[in-house]
Amino acid sequence: MSRRIVPASASSIALAADRLRAGELVAFPTETVYGLGADAGNSDAVHRIFAAKGRPTEHPLIVHLPNAAHVEHWAREFPEGARRLAATFWPGPLTLILPRTARAADAVTGGQDSVGLRVPSHPVARQLLDAFGELGGSGIAAPSANRFGHVSPTTAQHVAEDLGDAVSMIVDGGPCDVGIESTIVAFTGGEPMLLRPGGIAIEDLVRVLGEAPHAPDAMAPRASGTLASHYAPRAAARIVTSRQLLQEVARLASSGERVAVLARTVLPPANFAGAWIASHDDAPRYAHDLYANLRALDRPGVTAILIESVPNGGAWLAVRDRLTRAT
Ligand code: TXA
Ligand code: MG
Repeated sequence: MSRRIVPASASSIALAADRLRAGELVAFPTETVYGLGADAGNSDAVHRIFAAKGRPTEHPLIVHLPNAAHVEHWAREFPEGARRLAATFWPGPLTLILPRTARAADAVTGGQDSVGLRVPSHPVARQLLDAFGELGGSGIAAPSANRFGHVSPTTAQHVAEDLGDAVSMIVDGGPCDVGIESTIVAFTGGEPMLLRPGGIAIEDLVRVLGEAPHAPDAMAPRASGTLASHYAPRAAARIVTSRQLLQEVARLASSGERVAVLARTVLPPANFAGAWIASHDDAPRYAHDLYANLRALDRPGVTAILIESVPNGGAWLAVRDRLTRAT
């Protein structure tokens, strides 16, 4: 157990807020995944995030806010559709990309003319944002607290495994409820654009917006989570249909591969010796466990990870997106 992991309490949260104001990095839980936080108003502190993650500096970060009243500090426009989404889904797993004010420094926005904003619902994140605000802070910049390109952390232990000493403190608030990252909607051109499916179902966005958000086009702001090979385990991972799964396991095993399986409905064959995780046949519960399952299967010696395909419906959209990027 890393000494940097500290259970969430009034005093550890107060200490975390102090450290953030002093320019240090603090990892903290949100309802989606753990974030690697820095004072969004301190560019030197924000630069430390990129060094700790091994992430290219031109990738923009999400600024976490205690409530929607703080949007105007960071964004010069707050269009009607974005306001409706915020009123419905904040606090919660929604990120809005809006035209930035001059206070949103290049270190945070990756030099783009927009800024990503989110009000998280996790009680520890909210207490940390409030404590940070009382110290005069106006937002915590935080990407997922993993090494660049690796799967996001959903426990404090995952953060310690990935970032170790690069982070001054990891506030432990238990496993994250949602388990995959926030839904990102950009309001930077005429139409709302869905940059990343996530913790909020697409049907719910459509209900509030009165239209489906558009797919990103050439004018869309860059989002690193949209890189083709993101959220990837180390071993080669592949998606196979439920019908082909057992056949594929047998084929790989007979050619000497050490196979690990993330299944949903298929049961392991009697002679199977490797790791076989039977996950849920329910999208939110599957998402909740997804990254922990991928980490558990991605162990030394494993040469191939087979993932049983998931259904086509909208409820599984964000899971399908992450699986496609992991494989
Ligand atoms: O659920 C989440 O969103 C988690 C928790 C910690 O809040 N955060 C997260 O951060 O997933 P990160 O940095 O791993 O992914 C944020 C995504 C990136 O793909 C980034 O490019 C995009 O948000 N993003 C942030 N600001 C942006 C901007 N101004 N324009 C376009 N994309 C932006
Ligand atoms: Mg990330």
